[in-house]
Amino acid sequence: MLNIRDSHTGDRLSDENIRYQMVTFLIAGHETTSGLLSFTLYELLKNPEVLACAREEVERVLGNETPRFEHLPQLIYIDQVLKETLRLWPTAPAFAVYPYEETTTLGGQYPVRRDQTLLILTPMLHRDPAVWGADAERFDPSHFAFEQAEQRPPNAWKPFGNGQRACIGRPLPYKKRRC
Ligand code: HEM
Repeated sequence: MLNIRDSHTGDRLSDENIRYQMVTFLIAGHETTSGLLSFTLYELLKNPEVLACAREEVERVLGNETPRFEHLPQLIYIDQVLKETLRLWPTAPAFAVYPYEETTTLGGQYPVRRDQTLLILTPMLHRDPAVWGADAERFDPSHFAFEQAEQRPPNAWKPFGNGQRACIGRPLPYKKRRC
């Protein structure tokens, strides 16, 4: 942000803009992540078999070492636990979108004009039994096992928002292997 120039205009960000970006990072990155950890601990305490599985992975991957960046891709079950927590308890629980085209029809039944903003309520989206099955309300990290996640519509899980305003802190794609 301090040094790069826009490839089209050659402009740099003003100091004021950089200050705004830093405040956005601070606010957008703080309560979302801390809320995720709170809900994760809540679900782990309610689901001792998941806790045991998570603990087994942490002990196997880390042993007595202090966690380092290289450990993260190996913590596959922990990744599933965090994603499942964000499914049931998305800590930024809504985002807004608007259509690019003057008139469009969603799902063949909802007409939307260009000046209309739609608010997507992620807890509703993330608990839709048509996508997540009869156990949509149940905390189950195997929802994010690679084989299951691969089968689902890509837009069924959107805890990091969508499109041009999507989160810069969103994690990497699903990984193979599981606990
Ligand atoms: C579990 C953690 C996080 C969750 C659930 C989350 C969720 C979201 C969501 C839903 C949006 C879209 C908001 C909208 O469309 O109105 C967003 C945007 C954003 N997030 Fe995150 N976020 C997380 C972590 C972070 C972190 C760690 C950072 C940075 C350090 C960050 C920076 C941003 C930024 C810069 C935007 C774009 C804001 C904008 O364009 O107005 N987020 N995030």
